[in-house]
Amino acid sequence: MNSQAPVRSRGQITAPSIAQRKGAAEPLVMVTAYDAPSARVVEAAAADMILVGDSLAMVVLGYDDTMQVTTQDMAHHVAAVARTKPKALIVGDLPWMSYHVDRAETVRNAAMLVRAGAGAVKLEGGRKRIDSVQAILDAEIPVMGHIGLTPQSMLAMGGFKVQGKQLDAAQRIVEDAMALAEAGCFGIVLECVPDGLARMVTDSVSIPTIGIGAGRHCDGQVLVYHDLLGMCDGSRRAPKFVRQYADVEAIATEAVRAFVNDVRTGTFPSSAETYHMTDGMNQALDLYTTPTPRSTQLA
Ligand code: KIV
Repeated sequence: MNSQAPVRSRGQITAPSIAQRKGAAEPLVMVTAYDAPSARVVEAAAADMILVGDSLAMVVLGYDDTMQVTTQDMAHHVAAVARTKPKALIVGDLPWMSYHVDRAETVRNAAMLVRAGAGAVKLEGGRKRIDSVQAILDAEIPVMGHIGLTPQSMLAMGGFKVQGKQLDAAQRIVEDAMALAEAGCFGIVLECVPDGLARMVTDSVSIPTIGIGAGRHCDGQVLVYHDLLGMCDGSRRAPKFVRQYADVEAIATEAVRAFVNDVRTGTFPSSAETYHMTDGMNQALDLYTTPTPRSTQLA
């Protein structure tokens, strides 16, 4: 791990500039963020894209799956990220049922994320969702696809499982990728598929593939902020594709425990952590607050 990589000065990253980096020697990097502090960290680390993912349902809001968040929830978090004005492209995730019903509703929902500050939206599914992709593109909003393991389909998929392990399933994923690219998506997230299939998809499309649990043969990689920082619910086993770069939850717990201990033992706050009056003011206040003797009050 090279944490000493220089912070680059850079211009605004856009969906077309991401699309142009197909096949570039340097892989694209996307990291999720859901609020201003996490967005500042991801931007300072010079990631190319900040994904305000619906994974926030699980990693921030404590739900068991991603299907619990609404477009309003997503817009609230996109806006928090956007207020930090990152150069990274903000990709807002369209949540479950926000692009499944009709074109007008789909475009309104995508527009809500753009008005909150997203530079592009992401939606899950391949050929089945081409109408939605086209409707959003017709409204001049860049779209990123997402195929392979699509967490919003986890009821239909029977859980969070690696996809495309059989030949027919692998073929369907390649065809979905080609359909998304042809429709005009600027990139595709490829989640939890074998690396051979990821290579085939990457070679079959003219737009960048961004892998998560898809091996190294993609044009870029994405990880969930809380997974890579070790801020996960301890009861949830991190997937095998996560590389944990820090144990922030342990560091944070240690710091808060120290505060709790300092308060209880009377070592917080110290004099240096306290606002003081001048001596003159202290004396005046003493006089003002000294209780009048009871005998005087009765006289
Ligand atoms: O919501 C999310 O964080 C995602 C990533 C897993 C790609 O869609």
